[in-house]
This record gives sequence, structure tokens and C-alpha cells, in this order.
Amino acid sequence: MYKPIEIADGIYSVGCRDWDIRDFHGYSTYEGTTYNAFLVLGEKNILIDTVKEKFCDELLSNISQIIDPKKIDILISNHTEMDHSGAIPRVMHKIGENKPLYCSKMGAKNLKSHFNRDFNFQVVGSGDELKIGNRTFSFLETRMLHWPDSMFTYLVEDAILFSSDAFGQHYSGDMFFDDQIGDAIMSHAKKYYANILLHFSPRVQALLKDVAKMNLKINMICPDHGIIWRENPSKIIEAYDKWSRQEPSKKVVVIFDSMWESTAKMARSITNGIESKDVSVRLMNTRKWHRSDIMTEIIDAGAIAVGSPTLNNGIFPVIADVMTYVKGLRPQNKIAAAFGSYGWSGEAVKILNKDFSEMKWDIIDEGVKVQYVPNEDDLNRCFDLGIKIAKKLKKKLS
Ligand code: FEO
Repeated sequence: MYKPIEIADGIYSVGCRDWDIRDFHGYSTYEGTTYNAFLVLGEKNILIDTVKEKFCDELLSNISQIIDPKKIDILISNHTEMDHSGAIPRVMHKIGENKPLYCSKMGAKNLKSHFNRDFNFQVVGSGDELKIGNRTFSFLETRMLHWPDSMFTYLVEDAILFSSDAFGQHYSGDMFFDDQIGDAIMSHAKKYYANILLHFSPRVQALLKDVAKMNLKINMICPDHGIIWRENPSKIIEAYDKWSRQEPSKKVVVIFDSMWESTAKMARSITNGIESKDVSVRLMNTRKWHRSDIMTEIIDAGAIAVGSPTLNNGIFPVIADVMTYVKGLRPQNKIAAAFGSYGWSGEAVKILNKDFSEMKWDIIDEGVKVQYVPNEDDLNRCFDLGIKIAKKLKKKLS
């Protein structure tokens, strides 16, 4: 930001935009991201989270537009990952090495491991509070959302939730709030959930239930990436509830790669078969779509068909990349079908079925294999597989 933004009385967003980043450890960030940090002024001045190390000067410059960074009394670290903690050593050096650093028990352990040094750790857990003047900072551990150290800080009187990575989006632009960007932010939030949090969905469900029981008033959610939810924070909470339930929709994603267009022809016939039954379909060639975009389409699909040629007795490397990524994120509750062409051995379909079964997906038959180039009968078998997928999905949803 070229200047900090006062998001509530005496509370400033002082983080940085990373306009350039396009790959966030395997996740395509076409619109960059932000590393949000927040300064709360009062009897004691408190900084919540920092930024990536290379943005430390910008963070300190932003803070300097409000107060001398040396006047910061306390740092709260909600999460150890380096996009939020990388600047901590330099920030502590600037504000005073012995100033208190509030974090979870795992946060202290992880910060020590990352920086090979101690800080003046003040370890807090769920329910602990820090009262400063007329403000109360309440802490809520959110283990494995998405690291063991992760926690939220809730500012009671202002009803602001500083939610670390949760509810974030990899988006960088000239809009900073949900009411400025509108629904356009939801695709970024969905992609973020699909690629960062999906495999922790049962924990998300448990957390949402806990928060509902606590009856927290939430005026604003400030994540560590992307825009701040101030107009309608419940919108992103409801979206998380929906995504974490992993309820299937009437949509099929057909993912494929091809060496000599044979598997591609099969994929198109399967797609046509699905469409013939009025089921929505996305056909995604892994050479044209980034794995993280494929993952985003998968989360609400009811069925997935994956096609791979057989290469060197295995699945095609680009499909292996996507399947490794998908398996790690553990999407649940899918109908699945495999297909692919082969020359002489034809292991790809079997390997894909094994992948599906590891994810407990509901496999349709043994899939369709075609030697070399599909003829009309083969393409009809693929069309029929598409019909079968669509019918099974419609029955499941009925
Ligand atoms: Fe944005 Fe888990 O760091």
C-alpha cells in the first residue's frame, strides 16, 4: 500500500502488496497476493503479524507514516509461515528485541526453529486474553488451519477477527474491502480454500461450530491475504461452511492429457455423453490448465473423469503431477471414472483407479481403455461412459 488504511478507529492495515508473485509454492497466483499486517494503537501499540522478509522495509515505512516503529510495544504472531513471519527478526530488532511476542505454544516452537533464536515469547492458548486499556485481545488456537501453530486474534470491543490465512484470497489490487470488489472476490476465495484448506475441511467444520457456539459478534474479518471482509463477513463464513461440507453439485470435471490426440478424443466423447444428460461439465486439458485451477473446479464437482495415456508402463507425468496434488488435498464425495489410450501395456487406467480408491471415490466400472487410436465403437463406449457418469450423479443428487 502506498499509505496505510485506517480500518477502524485507531486500527490500521499496514501490510504490503506483492504484485509480482505468480507461483505460491505450486499455486498459480495470477493476480499476486498481499501480506496483511495490522497496527492497533492504544495504551500500548500492537502489531498483528508481519510480512515476507523482502517486504520488511515497506512494512516499516507504512508503520512510520502512523507512529515511530520503536513505539510498538507488542507483536502478535498468528502464524509462523514465512509470508507472515519472515520479517519478525528485523521488526523485533527495530522495535526492541525484548518486547513481548504473543503466539501459540507451537508458534513459539516454530519461530525458534525458523530463526534459530529466542524471542520474549508470551505463549497464549484458546480463551486467553490480553487486556490493554479499553481493548481486549482474545486468542483462539486454530491448529492445522493450516499449520500447527495457527491461531486467530479477536479484538472483542471492535468485534474484529484477525484470522491469519483463513478467509484469505491471493489477490492484489487497488481494492481492499469486500464492498469495493463485490462478488468478483469469491472466485479468489474459493481457489484459496480449494488449494490451501480443503484437506482440513473437517477441522473447518468443527471450528465453525465452535465459533457459532461462542456467539461471537463479528463486524470485520481481517485475513492475512487479500481483501478485508467488512460489509458482510458472514458471506465468507457461509462460503467456508459450504466448501468444507464438500457437497457435490451437478457438475463433472473431465481432466485429461494426450500424446497423439487419442485420449483427447476420448475425453471429448465422454464430455458429450455427460452433456447429453443435461449435466454441467468442464473439460480441462492439463497442458492448458494449472493444477490449482483444476483443483478449484474439483471442489464442488460431483464427479471427476480422468484420462491419461500410458507412458513407460505408467500414467502420463503431467497427469501424475495433477493427481499427486489432488490426492494431497483430499477432495471427498466424488464419483470417478478413468480412461485412456495405450500402445501395448495400458497401465494408466488401473493406476488412476488405484488413486481414486485411495481417496475413497466411488469408481464407475473399470474405466475405458483404447489401444492406439479410438474407432467409432470406442468413441461410442466413451460417450456411454459419459452418460453413465451423468446418470449416476443425477441419481446421487436426487
Ligand atoms: Fe499465508 Fe500459511 O501462510
